[in-house]
Order: sequence, then structure tokens, then C-alpha cells
Amino acid sequence: MAFNDLLLRTINGEKTERPPVWFMRQAGRYMEEYRAIRKKVSFLELCKTPDLCTEVTLQPIEAFGFDNAILFSDILIPIEPMGIQLDFNPAPVIANPIRTMADADKLRELDPEKDVPFVMETVRKLVKALDVPLIGFSGAPFTLACYMVEGSGSKNFENIKTLIHTDPETYRIMMEKLTSSTLKYLQAQIDNGAHVVQMFDTWAGVVSPYDYEKYIFPYVEHIANNLKGAPLIYFAKDSFSFYDTIGKLNCAGMGVDWKATLKDADERLSKGKFVLQGNFDPVLLFGSKEAIKETAEKIIAEGKDLKGHIFNLGHGILPPTPRENVEYLVKIVKGEA
Ligand code: CP3
Repeated sequence: MAFNDLLLRTINGEKTERPPVWFMRQAGRYMEEYRAIRKKVSFLELCKTPDLCTEVTLQPIEAFGFDNAILFSDILIPIEPMGIQLDFNPAPVIANPIRTMADADKLRELDPEKDVPFVMETVRKLVKALDVPLIGFSGAPFTLACYMVEGSGSKNFENIKTLIHTDPETYRIMMEKLTSSTLKYLQAQIDNGAHVVQMFDTWAGVVSPYDYEKYIFPYVEHIANNLKGAPLIYFAKDSFSFYDTIGKLNCAGMGVDWKATLKDADERLSKGKFVLQGNFDPVLLFGSKEAIKETAEKIIAEGKDLKGHIFNLGHGILPPTPRENVEYLVKIVKGEA
């Protein structure tokens, strides 16, 4: 089959016949094919086995006809070789959180080809196997730091916020190591063939706009300014209140969650500068067909007035999502339903 380059044309700002469609976390537990593999191996083993990662990445492409694949891995995989003891249960748990300067000093910078060769092998296998573009990805430095410092997910993020505001030097050293590691990690995925990369800043929205601008954005900016050879999409969840800052970023695509319309997002970011990606509420996939179609059509219509639009959810797909609704939403975007 001919290579489907719809995502690449869209992210490069060309006008296209329809938006490309993919879903964050499109490979995962909502698919029985994925659950069958997870019965045999742990999540970490899966992430470290290129043949299985390749298989799982392909599952949603084959099942639903998404316009691109996303590498199967996890944002936390590269922090293990940096010195973090990581487990998934299924949520991430870290046995040795970073709390002091001595902890931050011990963190090793990532050497991607040496430390996570299985990720690079998966990228190469996927690029050979796919007839759609491959999106590589990483966590953004602050989101990785949240897990490193909190030791798990968190409600109030008090450990990382306290660190920033009592020991900014320790925070800075940790963030500089995470920033150079993330830059090398994304660059290595591009060098191994990833067509586009996405940086997930899931927890950016837990801080104030003042702190976002001072303690998070400069590190993101450094990565965006130094990546070479493929377009970058930055996705910061719950970040509408600091879109004026994010709008200064030097990248091609911006992920938008479901809490703003695409039109408002574009205006507040920096009108017409970015291709926007989003922004269907993942929980709406539990709704009726009529409800799904109504919102999807509004999003598609707003997308037409943008520099470009990549149809996606506003956050990852949830494990109990009904498969037939995924199928239905993809068909709507493709003009087949
Ligand atoms: O999108 C894809 O299909 C690629 C795979 C992917 C995973 N995680 C697989 C995964 C991607 C892109 C991620 C990113 C990720 N991981 C983020 C950023 C995006 C987001 O959702 O905000 C974050 C914050 C993580 C950290 C993480 N990993 C959490 C919080 C969890 C547990 C929560 C949950 O969903 O249960 C994971 C585990 C994880 N990562 C699973 C998968 C398929 C479930 C593991 C299992 O099979 O048991």
C-alpha cells in the first residue's frame, strides 16, 4: 500500500482533504489484543521487548485505520537508566524519589543508544513495518520531574512544589539533566526514523502561570529550539491559562485538551502559528453515537479555520472505552459515518 502521508502534510502546514486522526494512548488496555499480550508479560517487560512493542503499536492501526502510529513505550522508561527505581502497578511507583541535592547529583544523563537500545530498535522495526508515519515521544522535563520527586502520581504535588520553592538549585540540577536527556532521547528517535515527535507535559497545569513561565517553560523551550530533523508537537494538559507563554514556543504542533475550543486555543496561543491537535473529551467516548457525532463535527468544523488540524482526543483514551465507539469516531473523521 502507498505510504499515507496525511499527518506529515498537515503538520507541515499544507491544506489537506481532511484532518488526520490518531488517539493518545491508542495502543492499550481498551483493546483485547493488547490485554492478551499483557497476560503473558509485565508492562516493563513489554516495553523492553522490541518485537512485542512493534506488535502492540500496530494493533490499533490494523483495527481502526488510524493515520499514524505512536511508538509503544512509556514516558518513564528513560528515567530508569538515569538511576530511578521504577515499577508499574499499573500506575508508576518509584522506590527512590529525588528530594535532596545529593539525590539530584546522582542522576545520570541518558545515553539513548546505550541505555534504551530496545526503544531505538522498536523505532527502526516500526519504520520498516508501517505504511503510516510514526510519532516518537517523551515526557517533558517537568512531568518527568513530578514522578521523580513525588515517587508516584499525586493530588497536590506538594513535594515538587516545595522543592522548587525551598531548594531551587536542586530543582535546577534535576531539570537540566532531564532536559539534556530528553533532547537526546527525542533526537535519537528522530535519527532512527521517527517522522514526528510529541512531548507530553501532563502535569504542567498543576502550577501557576508565574511558575510555569519561570520553572517549566525555559526547559521546554531549550528542547524545542535544539531538536533537528522532524516536527515537534507539545502537549501540556490544563494549560489554557498560560497559552500566552506557550505560544512563544518554536514548534510545529500544539496539543489541546478539551477544556477550550480550538478557536479560543488558537487565538490565545498565537493566532495561526501552530497546527493544533485535539481535542475530543476522551470520556465522551462513553456517550451515545449522536453525542459523539455532534461534538466531533463541531471540532472538525473549527479545525478547518486553523493553520492545520490533527484530530485527536484531549487526553489519553481510557481503558473501559467501548471499541465500537472508537471505530465510529475514526469513521466520522474520515467522512465514512
Ligand atoms: O499512546 C500510546 O499508545 C503509546 C504508549 C504510551 C503509554 N504511556 C503506554 C502505557 C504513551 C504515549 C504513554 C505516555 C504516558 N505515560 C504519559 C503521558 C500521557 C498521559 O496519559 O498523560 C504519562 C503521564 C505516563 C505515565 C503512566 N504510565 C501512568 C500514569 C500509567 C498508569 C495509568 C494507567 O493508565 O493505568 C502508565 C502505564 C501505562 N503506560 C500503560 C500503558 C498502555 C498501562 C500499563 C498496563 O498495561 O498495565
